[in-house]
Amino acid sequence: MGNTETINTVDEFVAADFTGNPEELIPLLQYYQKTYGYISPQGAEQIALFLGISPARVFTVASFFAQFRFNKPGENHIRVCLGTACHVQGGSELSDEVQQHLHIHPGETMPDGHFDFEEVACLGCCAQAAVVQVNDKIYAKMSRSKLRKVLEAYGRA
Ligand code: FES
Repeated sequence: MGNTETINTVDEFVAADFTGNPEELIPLLQYYQKTYGYISPQGAEQIALFLGISPARVFTVASFFAQFRFNKPGENHIRVCLGTACHVQGGSELSDEVQQHLHIHPGETMPDGHFDFEEVACLGCCAQAAVVQVNDKIYAKMSRSKLRKVLEAYGRA
């Protein structure tokens, strides 16, 4: 089965116009994440095999860019802003609240897949600090207790 997946993925890379040139690493990572939602260890191996480089090199390069994620996305996405305006208004306490409440760290997904969680540098609405985003919805002027209510509304008390 592993071989079949590898062959299918390589065929898929070729069908998507990749040639196997190591210089295609970033576009191939972008393609892979867009298609599969994240860069899995198996994905990194398949990319490495296709480009003729080591999986370690794939991870090293991908880790350098904040756009790539290495955990399977959850059904719901929580982003806590830690930009300057939000930090001043208690953004890191909101991050702590998520971590304590959901038992996940930034960059992780809950074992049941209900939420994934990220800390971000700015969500572009600094006047509303502190800001948390869940899926496409922005929650403004957040506190720990307001955040708990939001999490409850998404089915996690
Ligand atoms: S610093 Fe949080 S939205 Fe800009």
